[in-house]
Amino acid sequence: MADSAHRLIPADFTPLPSLAATTAVTVAPDAPADAAAVGYPVAPDGALPGELGLDWESLRANGFEGKVGQTFASPRVGASDVVVVGIGADDERTEAKLRDIVAAFVRAESRAASLAFVVGDTYPLDEVAIGAAIAEAAVLTRYQYTALKTKPKHVALDTLTIVTPLDAELVGDGIRTGLVSARAATIARDLANTPPGHLTAAVFGELAASLGPKYGLEVTLADKAKLIELGCGGLLGVNAGSTEEPRMIQLHYRPGSAGDGSTPATHIALVGKGIMYDSGGISLKPSDPMHLLMKMDMGGAAAVFGAMTALQDLGCASEVTAFLMCTDNMPSGSATKLGDVLTIRGGTTVEVKNTDAEGRLVLADGLALSAELKPTAIIDIATLTGAALMALGASTAAAFGNDQPLVDKVIAAATATDEPAWQLPLEKKYRPQLDSDIADLGNLGGRFAGATTAALFLNEFVGDIPWAHLDIAGTMQVDADESWRSKGATGYGARLLTRLVVDYPTS
Ligand code: BES
Ligand code: MN
Ligand code: ZN
Repeated sequence: MADSAHRLIPADFTPLPSLAATTAVTVAPDAPADAAAVGYPVAPDGALPGELGLDWESLRANGFEGKVGQTFASPRVGASDVVVVGIGADDERTEAKLRDIVAAFVRAESRAASLAFVVGDTYPLDEVAIGAAIAEAAVLTRYQYTALKTKPKHVALDTLTIVTPLDAELVGDGIRTGLVSARAATIARDLANTPPGHLTAAVFGELAASLGPKYGLEVTLADKAKLIELGCGGLLGVNAGSTEEPRMIQLHYRPGSAGDGSTPATHIALVGKGIMYDSGGISLKPSDPMHLLMKMDMGGAAAVFGAMTALQDLGCASEVTAFLMCTDNMPSGSATKLGDVLTIRGGTTVEVKNTDAEGRLVLADGLALSAELKPTAIIDIATLTGAALMALGASTAAAFGNDQPLVDKVIAAATATDEPAWQLPLEKKYRPQLDSDIADLGNLGGRFAGATTAALFLNEFVGDIPWAHLDIAGTMQVDADESWRSKGATGYGARLLTRLVVDYPTS
């Protein structure tokens, strides 16, 4: 990390602290005596745990009505605290609501290192789904980025016991899945929360190369010289103003790579925008507190990396190739100028009309390389446009695509993981806005429908391969804790892509 030495980055600094903090999630018929708190799900007017020693009248007097997200904690001396956790009406017994319920419980007991949560045998979800939702929500709720706190006040969740009469083996299967999926998201959160000087493109590359093999991934790094050889003029053009080198991080997963070596029928390509910091370049962003968030402009690449770490453990049956397109976007004497023309991999020329529309330039190279592989499908994910944030806010990503069945699969995975996405039109009528007088394309659309014109630009590089695009500018972070989304980077997309790829039809 010599380049960043002036920031005095400690030699033992690790960009992925959450890999070290593991929560042991177990199943038991009774709550362990040493649990700091036990959570009891309670429906409106439903039965109350005998241990509570309170009736509905006193609960209501304390504002507890049994709605999802409500909790009432009753501290005990010499015994576990008792926490009633609202579960809402009968029609709210979904996986998403179960995660919200667990999140409310874990937030109510934020100082507890050991928790127990009770689930009866009438909860109308299958055992695997219950185990997965509870484990996932608990880990994600307690997450905090503490790598740079010298005196962290955060209390890690060491143990969680799911107290249930349900089949322990099935619930256990769910727990294992949930923990892998949560790990994918916490890896993505860690990466996006890391300051841009601590996580440069080169450092990200080193990290991927050292961790990849552990997760069954083959990692290939392309440095500046290699990118020139590959003709990746988009990534190189965005990098031109930076003192840090770019990296294209290629990750390859082959199912059962120790097996018979046959090629799986399905091959998915994933592309992530990896702008380590987006200053806007020569089209410098105006001074604004939003800039603090631009270290998260690699949230797409972080989500793809997170998802890739889950495939081996979840037994993904498809082949997956990922391209993380990493560089920062800086102004300097060597920066790309407005009016410069870049040549993307494959030869398409692009006139740069605004250097702040850099995401589409780095993605273009990644999409072109993906299309050359003739995969079953290409999915890209990017913190691409302020317009997506304006249109859909912080809870919902914008989805686009050239193939409705693929977009439907993406949205189904988004719904299942409660990382919501909403399709916007890839309106071809707006395509002329991307025309250039001197090159094949310009990188800037008109004033309106900015998320759509950005998507139309990307569409130029995928040929006729089924392709979907997720614009996560809105969902990359939350300003305050919200259910299992902890303040800061959300890791949005890591769980969605994991689900999409693992569940992708293999024939
Ligand atoms: N990284 C930004 C988009 C962004 C904005 C992400 C807010 C997260 C929160 C992107 O590179 C950008 O600057 N987009 C411009 C595009 C414009 C110049 C066409 C935008 O949206 O203003
Ligand atoms: Mn930008
Ligand atoms: Zn950007």
